Amino acid sequence: MLGAFVFLAGCSKPTGGNSGTNSSTPQKKITIGMSQCNLGEPWREQMNADIQAAAAKHPELKVVFKDAQNDTLQQRAQIEEFVSAKVDLLIVSPKEAQPLTEPVARAMDAGIPVIVLDRRLLGDKYTCFIGADNKKIGNALGEWVVKTLDGKGNVVELMGLQTSAPGQDRHSGFLEGIAGSDIKIVFSADMKWLEPDARKEMESALSRFDKIDLVYGHNDPGAHGAYLAAKSAGREKQIKFVGIDALPQEGVGYVSQGILDVTFQYPTGGAEAIDTALKIFRDEKVPKDITLGTRRFDKASVKTGGEALP
Ligand code: FRU
Repeated sequence: MLGAFVFLAGCSKPTGGNSGTNSSTPQKKITIGMSQCNLGEPWREQMNADIQAAAAKHPELKVVFKDAQNDTLQQRAQIEEFVSAKVDLLIVSPKEAQPLTEPVARAMDAGIPVIVLDRRLLGDKYTCFIGADNKKIGNALGEWVVKTLDGKGNVVELMGLQTSAPGQDRHSGFLEGIAGSDIKIVFSADMKWLEPDARKEMESALSRFDKIDLVYGHNDPGAHGAYLAAKSAGREKQIKFVGIDALPQEGVGYVSQGILDVTFQYPTGGAEAIDTALKIFRDEKVPKDITLGTRRFDKASVKTGGEALP
């Protein structure tokens, strides 16, 4: 592994006295292992595509992707495989915080730098965390709901996996955003980020409550699943649907089509992960945490590319 680091450090300083000594030897690849918790949602496909596109600009990088198919044990095993294979760096987008903390710590013990993307682990045994501020997004979404519903109404909250940090933060941030208003969460369920689960939970909510003013899905697939349930019950026009992710081909499209009322962008961080990896390879100091920004897309702003949140 060290060899790869030294090689790249040499690359980044081409003015050195012995530049050119490598001209006849083929370039040694630097291997990045990418542990993706699942590829079931378009957002995760986008994350991998962003990583691949950024890495493709650096021919010395090779990224090996593994998909844990939403199975924590499989993701633990895949991280261990990357460590045994002695990759030069790991990017991990973990399914859950607690069970993935230990394998990442072991990779660090083995001298492999780890960039954690999107979902946080417990503690601070990683090299760099990259992700947007889920609490802030939840809070801003809560404030948007208070404003849009004039301070009162019945809300269904379909939560992301509650053993993952974004699910917890999108919930606690939302509670802060609606605090002091007469917005009531009449029904809440963990839909584990999955559209089919969200649809099922929404069917229960619809059968129990005659008056639902808004559904907060912790991601756009969740909000869309709820919309489909409401549509088959003939109630979609009485309810507002809001979500998070804002992929152009998904949430932003739903807002343009009038399915969702608002979505907040949750950037994948894929390009930033590759930038950070390159800095680590060059022995440059990297921040412990990189917080990505977000944009709000509602019916008005969707036409002009959304609005950045301060
Ligand atoms: C995809 C996803 C996104 C969400 C993110 C949170 O698996 O559920 O929709 O924003 O993970 O970690």
